Amino acid sequence: MTLLEVVTIDGPAGAGKSTVARRVAEKLNFRFLDTGAMYRAVTWAALEGGLEASESKNLDQLLCDLDLSFEAGGRLMVNGQDVTSAIRERHVTAQVSAYAALPSVRKLMSRAQRTMGEVGALVCEGRDMGTFVFPDAAVRIYLDASAQVRAERRAKELRDKGEDVDFDALLNEIKARDAADSSRAVAPLKRVPEQHYVDSSDMSRDDVIANLLAIAAKGLDGAARS
Ligand code: DC
Repeated sequence: MTLLEVVTIDGPAGAGKSTVARRVAEKLNFRFLDTGAMYRAVTWAALEGGLEASESKNLDQLLCDLDLSFEAGGRLMVNGQDVTSAIRERHVTAQVSAYAALPSVRKLMSRAQRTMGEVGALVCEGRDMGTFVFPDAAVRIYLDASAQVRAERRAKELRDKGEDVDFDALLNEIKARDAADSSRAVAPLKRVPEQHYVDSSDMSRDDVIANLLAIAAKGLDGAARS
């Protein structure tokens, strides 16, 4: 089996994957891929077009016409429009699991992701990177945190932005997304023994980054020697 020069980081919503994965990529001098952003972009485009997840024919057309690209600086463009902020809005977050569960959507996204990984030097984060898209990655990590801690982190982020927070509603949203992401038929979020498991509930962000970097460095070194 060829080991790709790829580091995968999977885990549930709000485990802090994006921030730490981005830093790990910077330190390794690898490219970074936020695959959740890709599923969010499809969801954003479908909602803009007024398409529900059940409208498979129209969605197939939308996917066919979809021009999705990451620009320098990490900005995400969809059909010529900068959607970097729009994909983080609450209505997109609330709907994304439904669109991400569709086999046609997953097929297109995972194919694009594999193309990006084939040339190596990639850190990617999502739900199925190590289990489905890159089972042959040199390093596979599962980054976890308890639902309570994830909701507390998210509540702090929102309060820091000056938003009102209903903590119980936030916790329930996180649990609902965990359930939807773990129970879908195609490429669900799951842990496998081959992944390095890191529970960040009681760790600072810097500790998580240091931990992941150590795991990645060791795994990449081992893969290079094998
Ligand atoms: O990580 P995030 O919250 O931005 O992800 C948005 C949604 O996309 C999430 O509900 C699960 C889905 N997703 C997925 O199904 N597979 C991935 N590889 C990444 C994200």
